[in-house]
Amino acid sequence: MDKLTIRGGAPLRGEISISGAKNAALPILAATLLTDKPMLIGNIPHLHDITTTMELLGQMGSELMLDERMVIEVNNRDLGRLYAPHDLVKTMRASILVLGPLLSRYGQAHVSLPGGCSIGSRPVDLHLKGLSDMGAEITVNDGYIHARARRLHGAYINFEQVTVTGTENLMMAATLADGRTVLENAAREPEVADLAECLNRMGADITGAGTGRIEIEGVDQLNGTRYDILPDRIETGTYLVAAAMTGGSIRLKNTNPALLEAVIEKLSEAGAGIACNGATISLEMEHGSRPRAVDIDTSPFPGFPTDMQAQFTALNCIAEGRAVITENIFNNRFMHVMELRKMGADLAQSGNRVMVSGVDTLSSSTITARDRRASACLILAGLVARGQTLVEQVYHIDRGYETIEEKLMQLGASIKRLP
Ligand code: EPU
Repeated sequence: MDKLTIRGGAPLRGEISISGAKNAALPILAATLLTDKPMLIGNIPHLHDITTTMELLGQMGSELMLDERMVIEVNNRDLGRLYAPHDLVKTMRASILVLGPLLSRYGQAHVSLPGGCSIGSRPVDLHLKGLSDMGAEITVNDGYIHARARRLHGAYINFEQVTVTGTENLMMAATLADGRTVLENAAREPEVADLAECLNRMGADITGAGTGRIEIEGVDQLNGTRYDILPDRIETGTYLVAAAMTGGSIRLKNTNPALLEAVIEKLSEAGAGIACNGATISLEMEHGSRPRAVDIDTSPFPGFPTDMQAQFTALNCIAEGRAVITENIFNNRFMHVMELRKMGADLAQSGNRVMVSGVDTLSSSTITARDRRASACLILAGLVARGQTLVEQVYHIDRGYETIEEKLMQLGASIKRLP
């Protein structure tokens, strides 16, 4: 399994380009199942989860072609197997996103039940309840969700908890349902709005995406379209934190500052100078200055994203002062805490809170990545640690960050992948 070695100490400097958002690309690839016309999806990030999704669609009978500019052409004329097998779902929970589209277009779907994962129990009960409110008959046996419906009908669905992929699954299902669906307490994440935009270009009738109330008027069929995925706000935020921690000065191109207000606010509070100009964000730390500690409290968009919690935990480890990190979305998203302690960080965890007392420097160690954002956090810690850090099990990072070591090298980091 691949490892990364990092020699810490170099301030990041220079310019890189941000990739398309993984969490928009995955639902949009699933949305292609809603039409028998060809779809062209651009700005696809080169990630393991994208390859897994292509494999999942391919084994159902999709024809997929990826060109050298990372534009995928998907043709779902003739699907043979309306089925997401356990061996793919277990490696990528987002596979659950095929459930709504398959059921809505074909009247049936069989999807392996995603189990718990390294960041929490992560049930899908709200996806299933919503689909059954839309008229689906759902049974779960032998670890598989079996869903059937002659044609789904519109429904009023009030989510008892905000769920991103739950909102996406039901929104996709509702596009071809009979009548009008209202999703109340819907997720407002930009990736949900991006999916809605793509679906509307395909001929769907969706209003309110990006707010807490989404209305979908069902249509009889959807068409193909060309759609470019929005920039990855979590990748953007991760590089900004890396630059702030290393006392650097970077420019990120092809991103969207409007998607990162909560993150930019925290970085400014930590002492970073940030300038936004169109699709570019620049960050500059005063030479030799340490970031100031900042409290973090995760919540659904537009609040502070759980997907940036681990990176800010790393920043606080070397910041001046103390901070409290509160994780409100997932019940086990502190896998990085133990590893950061091995590097000399001062962290005390109690339930869903971690108290971080900043130290002057971290020391190098051999550390293990246990989920995607935790791996990013450990790489950031390695960039400021004295000596050489070895990060093991970096396949997690390849699921969320396109060519991370190349981008960091471009910014002057000393980082190398080892087989
Ligand atoms: N939940 C339920 N029942 C459900 C669905 C969710 O109880 O039926 C709970 C979850 O257990 C969790 C909370 O609701 O406590 C929120 O989970 P949500 O459903 O919003 O998460 P998700 O849709 O599975 C997406 C992203 C995650 C991101 C979260 C939160 C994708 C493919 N994944 O997951 O991204 O952390 O929203 O913003 O969009 C990542 O990129 O590293 C990642 C984990």
